[in-house]
Amino acid sequence: MKILVTAGPTLEPIDPVRFVSNRSTGAMGFAVARVARQRGHKVVLISGPTHLALPRGVDFFPAETARQMCRKVLDNFSWADAVVMAAAVSDYRPVKPAAGKIKKTSPVLNLKLARNPDILRILAKQKAGKVLAGFALETENLYKNSLGKLKEKNLDIIVANRLAKGKDVFGGKKTSVLILDKNGSKKFLSSVSKTRVAAELLREIEKIKAPQNSAT
Ligand code: CTP
Repeated sequence: MKILVTAGPTLEPIDPVRFVSNRSTGAMGFAVARVARQRGHKVVLISGPTHLALPRGVDFFPAETARQMCRKVLDNFSWADAVVMAAAVSDYRPVKPAAGKIKKTSPVLNLKLARNPDILRILAKQKAGKVLAGFALETENLYKNSLGKLKEKNLDIIVANRLAKGKDVFGGKKTSVLILDKNGSKKFLSSVSKTRVAAELLREIEKIKAPQNSAT
């Protein structure tokens, strides 16, 4: 299969030296890209800035902002059989980044933020026979909220993470996830590596694609 994977955070500039972002390290998306390659798939990886080494044999495109990532994903979408959106896309960006460095002249600085495009929602509208997989990070109502995202974004699979107090999903070696698919199947993986999560997710994607391939 041809698999398009996104990873990492996006960075949204405030001025030439500062940005709005999140704590994503990119480890989950890079694990998906690496394991997909090991399982014999062709892989395009589009990632925000990370400190990770590129998996071998993967075509790589960097993207800094959500809008850049969106464009690169759309450029590669027709090529792909499946898309795994593991990127932590910033939902908002500063409306108008300052051209020069903002000086600390006032006691309060108001930042006005605009909504970024929801990449998965855009892909869902032109899905055709492709498999779409997303991730969800929730602090509460893990099952209900993730199932909502699965349906709203017309996904085949969602990997749901709970951000529990004191537990670090970002940069942590072990993670616990709930994998839901659109037919209602659920699989809970407790305290496993990101490599294991990637392998389980890819197995699910391969299962969805298999009957389609045998029908053509
Ligand atoms: N996602 C996306 N484009 C965005 C935001 C998120 O494609 N602008 C994708 C993520 O890559 C992930 C899925 O949507 O696969 C869910 O992301 P998440 O941040 O959990 O949910 P949101 O849709 O952003 O909803 P909220 O932040 O309100 O929980």
